[in-house]
Amino acid sequence: MSYLSEYDRSMQDPEGFWRKQAEALEWFKFPQQILSLDDDGLGYWFADGEMNTAYMALDHHVKNGRGNQLALIYDSPVTDTKSRYTYAELTNVVARTAGMLSNLGVVKGDRVIIYMPMIPEAVIAMLAVARLGAIHSVVFGGFAPPELAIRIDDAKPKVILTASCGIEVKRVVEYKPMIDRAMELAKHKPQSCIVYQRPQATASLLAGRDHDWSALLAKSKAVGCTPVKGSDPLYILYTSGTTGKPKGVLRENGGHAVALKYSMKAIYNVDPGDVFWASSDVGWVVGHSYIVYGPLLHGCTTIVYEGKPIMTPDASALWRVCAEYGVKALFTAPTAFRAVKKEDPQAALMKQYDLSKLQVIYSAGERLDPPTEAWLTEQSGKPVVDHWWQTETGWAITANMQGIEPMPIKPGSSTVPVPGFNVHILGENGQQVPRGTQGYIALKLPLPPACLNHVWGDVNKFRESYLAFLPGYYTSGDGGYIDEDGYVFVMGRVDDVINVAGHRLSTGEIEEVIATHPAVAECAVIARDDDLKGQVPMGLVVLKTGMTITEAELQQQLIARIRDTIGAITCYKDTVILTRLAKTRSGKTLRKTLAHIVNGKEYTVPSTIDDPGVISEIIEALRSRKMVK
Ligand code: COA
Ligand code: AMP
Repeated sequence: MSYLSEYDRSMQDPEGFWRKQAEALEWFKFPQQILSLDDDGLGYWFADGEMNTAYMALDHHVKNGRGNQLALIYDSPVTDTKSRYTYAELTNVVARTAGMLSNLGVVKGDRVIIYMPMIPEAVIAMLAVARLGAIHSVVFGGFAPPELAIRIDDAKPKVILTASCGIEVKRVVEYKPMIDRAMELAKHKPQSCIVYQRPQATASLLAGRDHDWSALLAKSKAVGCTPVKGSDPLYILYTSGTTGKPKGVLRENGGHAVALKYSMKAIYNVDPGDVFWASSDVGWVVGHSYIVYGPLLHGCTTIVYEGKPIMTPDASALWRVCAEYGVKALFTAPTAFRAVKKEDPQAALMKQYDLSKLQVIYSAGERLDPPTEAWLTEQSGKPVVDHWWQTETGWAITANMQGIEPMPIKPGSSTVPVPGFNVHILGENGQQVPRGTQGYIALKLPLPPACLNHVWGDVNKFRESYLAFLPGYYTSGDGGYIDEDGYVFVMGRVDDVINVAGHRLSTGEIEEVIATHPAVAECAVIARDDDLKGQVPMGLVVLKTGMTITEAELQQQLIARIRDTIGAITCYKDTVILTRLAKTRSGKTLRKTLAHIVNGKEYTVPSTIDDPGVISEIIEALRSRKMVK
């Protein structure tokens, strides 16, 4: 099969193409409506089909003879623990966990927040919620209480599921005090909080509201799968946008299951029974799609890894896990590879392991920079495939389709559009730009299955945020170009979103925290290039008149505030006090120009600048701190 014929079929007959892919799953009632369009041209997939995602991912496999196959391997170097679940065992514990939630009153459509470390119970919780037809919202464990509180108020969960702690290399991070603080801050009060007690920290429980997970589970009976419609929501996952408030991306059951099942063979070239490892966290979309749903829908074995690519204990971690479990496809973020490369430049640790089962290494989360790609390809001898996607789409928009027709790899490119995605590069006014010219990367509507149609709790937000800028297209927020061979090069965000170690953050949100400091009159947060993490945020701050705080003092206080308000994953460090910011005459801060200056890139000073003299002042301030040459 050629990539082009597969892609053309998906464009010419989307309904026929996706009906066929839907047949690979066990529905309770096969959908009659494959694609329905609304007035905006948005596509709703499989709306009248009846199904349950957890059934498709678990019970279906047990029924079809995979009960004794491994479904999930837990490998935790930070606790020195390993465990395994067959499909039968995982189905059983998920059904009983669903019973536990049902006893607390969770029914179809209710929201359940999951704030957990990388332990099997996090995956079990997600699948148990899905089994009841309820909606999970996983919040990454690295987010601080105010971030959790924002999500509690938006999702309005009936129940929160958590663990007593997570472990960051050697540091025990107690979760329960953070949950308690978030519950205090939030206006919405969840009815119950279920805590999985880990031996590294015991959480105190509030009588009436909090419950011990293991004690409740011991009393719970297995429950069956609640049928839902293809268009019913499976989960809400919050992601950073250009404003301070995160957006709740809503994922529907039907399109999600079909797209992920298709992707497992088409993109990753794995078959049922193969071991697939996405080294990420269930708090991110990569974790949702490729630690939990994709591999299980396809009958693969997935790995829940509680550790880092380095430090737990060293830069051999990725290769040790691949060799130990016979991983066929490894997927992680470029920052992880850069960290490994830094620690083990000759890949001596990699070479100690038998990686013969590993066929392809996949990268996403940020652009795979050509030097890292070259190093990894040379050292591993494996194809290294970059693919581009977003929380909003739930799966890759551009990729090198290993299960259809592997194509030559071009460094810096995430290859070609995945079937179903109609990718265009548009200019400022929505016009198509010539091949090789950079512009906004936009997706012509309708989007393929799995992509979002709604932002939770705000029907207009999706249209305003993604459709209004270029009518008829979904605006990705990324810029880039398509070359003469049709290869897509994604060059980075064109909005105020930054990418820190593969984690998506909003500069606006960080600015909001800085602006609350009593000494700060105004500020701009920009992304500074970083060899390891890709980008890190940097604060340019103007003080209120008469404030005498030193830059070092302010920096320490801002670091603490940002860690306490957003979380340590922000990796905020550098603060520069300026006498004024560079602005246009209408008062808009010139963040892009400032970022180019900080990163030593060529910059243009827009003619709309209020006072061009400010640029040399800022360069001088950065130079005196040895931040630019
Ligand atoms: N809970 C609490 N704190 C967390 C956390 C969690 N789940 N995850 C990260 N943090 C903290 C870390 O402890 C660290 O705190 P510190 O500043 O006190 O040391 C901070 O947040 C930054 O974490 P991280 O970005 O993980 O940096 P690191 O220096 O500990 O590790 C890497 C560097 C490259 C190894 C790490 O960033 C990494 O593994 N990246 C891969 C990212 C990834 O898989 N992304 C998924 C997208 S596909
Ligand atoms: P998230 O929604 O957290 O997955 O982040 C999505 C954003 O990460 C995209 O909009 C891109 O800016 C960036 N991104 C993810 N994968 C890639 C990639 N392969 N190449 C370039 N940028 C990427």
